[in-house]
Amino acid sequence: MKKITIGQTGLETPQLAVGCMRLGALEEKKAQAFVDSALELGANFFDHADIYGGGVCESVFAKAIQMSPSVREKVIIQSKCGIVPGRMFDFSKKHILESVDGILSRLDTEYLDILLLHRPDALMEPEEVADAFRVLKSSGKVRHFGVSNQDPMTIELLSKYVDEPLACNQLQLSITNSTMLSQPMNINMLDNPAIDRDNGIRVYCRLKGITIQAWSPLQHGMFEGPFIGSPKFSALNKKLEEVAAKHEASPTAIAFAWIARLPEKVQPVTGTTNPERLKECIKGMGIELSREDWYGLYLAAGHRLP
Ligand SMILES: NC(=O)c1ccc[n+]([C@@H]2O[C@H](COP(=O)([O-])OP(=O)(O)OC[C@H]3O[C@@H](n4cnc5c(N)ncnc54)[C@H](OP(=O)(O)O)[C@@H]3O)[C@@H](O)[C@H]2O)c1
Repeated sequence: MKKITIGQTGLETPQLAVGCMRLGALEEKKAQAFVDSALELGANFFDHADIYGGGVCESVFAKAIQMSPSVREKVIIQSKCGIVPGRMFDFSKKHILESVDGILSRLDTEYLDILLLHRPDALMEPEEVADAFRVLKSSGKVRHFGVSNQDPMTIELLSKYVDEPLACNQLQLSITNSTMLSQPMNINMLDNPAIDRDNGIRVYCRLKGITIQAWSPLQHGMFEGPFIGSPKFSALNKKLEEVAAKHEASPTAIAFAWIARLPEKVQPVTGTTNPERLKECIKGMGIELSREDWYGLYLAAGHRLP
């Protein structure tokens, strides 16, 4: 599989990340089979969060992969903290440090390759975050740091205090959820696509060398289900089939190829727990779409160009 370097970390990883948010729903043997096939396919970058399944997903993963020091060397593990579900966001030093201890214990590992702050905390004190990062780095518990769902100015504020450039920003991005691409192309227009919902985050990340990780690459809305095969997106599905036939691939592969075509090397985070679908996602990462097909898919998803 194609490799990318995450931000300015020097950390080389497969361009496709394997998201573990839905892993907790699998029975033990299925989880093991899924993780094994991911490793066989070279997909060794795993994305977690302390809140996935209330922590269950991290534990299921550690068990499925039969974590040991030699296994640990073969995988790249990212997790996130900062959300206290239904109650608040918490970027306090105490919460970050305690969360990482919980994550490491559930994952049965001594360290995380990357820790992300999951969603902006309105009460964030950047000095405290920087302090927490310093403690985690010097103790060897976390190697690199990034953010998720964060806007340029929040990243600027954090960057003023943290010791190293933030590595990545995980954001929702897919053919159907692509406001960060649509707004700049519709600048100055009076209608909806011109509304700035992302504060220039895509260009900002590219300027700063921050890798964008695309979460929910197949979902429409927020977890409303995959757009692949959905009657709500019949024009898009028709176009996906047409482009897929050209590349002897599936529509799923083309949906990943669409993200992979972005020149800044976005890292999609697949949410599949099905080894066959994972193969399709990986195949898509190796397909280079023409400009005509890329825009054709964009328009078929219901977006427009001025
Ligand atoms: N940072 C954040 O705020 C944030 C938020 C959400 C998610 N994430 C990360 O992003 C990852 C991916 O998110 P996601 O799970 O929503 O991604 P996704 O890949 O868009 O969706 C995966 C889900 O869609 C199903 N699916 C895919 N194609 C299908 C098809 N053709 N027909 C029927 N079902 C299909 C999968 O089922 P199968 O298992 O059967 O393939 C799975 O349940 C998560 O695991 C997590 O790591 C991050």
